[in-house]
Amino acid sequence: MVRETGGPEVLRLEDLEPPQPGDGEALIRVRAASVNPIDWKYRRGLSEKPLPAILGIDVSGTVEISNVEGFAPGDDAFGFAGSGAYAELATAAAGAIVTKPPGLSHEQAAALPVSALTAWQALYDVGGLQRGQTALIAGAAGGVGHLAVQFAHYAGARVIGTGSARNRDFVLGLGADEYVDYTLQAVAEAVSGADVVFDTVGGETTASLVGAVAEGGIIVTIASAPPTEGAAQRAARAELLISRTDADQLAHVAALVEAGDVRVEIAEILPLDEVARAHELSESGHVRGKLVLTV
Ligand SMILES: NC(=O)c1ccc[n+]([C@@H]2O[C@H](COP(=O)([O-])OP(=O)(O)OC[C@H]3O[C@@H](n4cnc5c(N)ncnc54)[C@H](OP(=O)(O)O)[C@@H]3O)[C@@H](O)[C@H]2O)c1
Repeated sequence: MVRETGGPEVLRLEDLEPPQPGDGEALIRVRAASVNPIDWKYRRGLSEKPLPAILGIDVSGTVEISNVEGFAPGDDAFGFAGSGAYAELATAAAGAIVTKPPGLSHEQAAALPVSALTAWQALYDVGGLQRGQTALIAGAAGGVGHLAVQFAHYAGARVIGTGSARNRDFVLGLGADEYVDYTLQAVAEAVSGADVVFDTVGGETTASLVGAVAEGGIIVTIASAPPTEGAAQRAARAELLISRTDADQLAHVAALVEAGDVRVEIAEILPLDEVARAHELSESGHVRGKLVLTV
């Protein structure tokens, strides 16, 4: 529970009344939740959220009460929590959860919703990535980036990832064709003509990627204002994606993971009472893959 904005110390374990599922909602006994940067941005007050609040969007667990068609008590489900996933019990709405495939652990399932759908929607719904095109993924080792690399590779694109030296082998191992160490050179000096530039880094990086996009290409950012003018000067487009819940996409991605076509990298699994440490790690900006909390 977070009652005021601040550092990781404002995250406190409290005994609370369980949330009540409304019409079209299920109550889930949380087995795992994952950490997304938006969680600590809410905690710091960098993104707006009414407080007090239980943080955590990504959830995987077992249905206790179901007012959702297709789910019964005892079913394992995962997706987007409505009432906050850093808890023993959380509500989730119909359309925001899907059945957890038996081949996925709760930890793997909880790592997927926000990161996977953001990567999927950036590359396909907004980026329109096609087989044979080139995708540049900035932040290729992160929660979103490491899935984006695999989706783009799976789609038959040529994939260029960016990150620091320690993530080179990891990202190439996910299927990237090339890797640019951003600590050694400016990415746009090393890369040009990318059909889809996917920026997961934000800040100064976003505008600096303009030089890497192809004429007619697109820069999709999830982390900063889109460099619309710079892109237009290169006859390209730039768009900000705010990802959305999509049960069909989530089920599809889970099937890819279960089939072994996509792997979820879990940097660390921590118990819920170490959530403050998980936030410190996430806030460092250098986690490889996902941080997962178990309840
Ligand atoms: N708009 C939306 O709907 C949406 C959805 C999801 C996430 N987001 C936002 O997208 C951003 C990324 O999310 P995430 O979950 O992927 O974060 P994350 O897992 O915390 O990303 C960490 C990764 O970023 C890499 N990185 C840091 N600085 C870099 C740089 N200058 N160039 C290349 N890589 C760099 C790190 O690699 P190294 O250690 O090698 O540097 C690390 O692996 C966050 O700001 C998040 O809030 C937005």
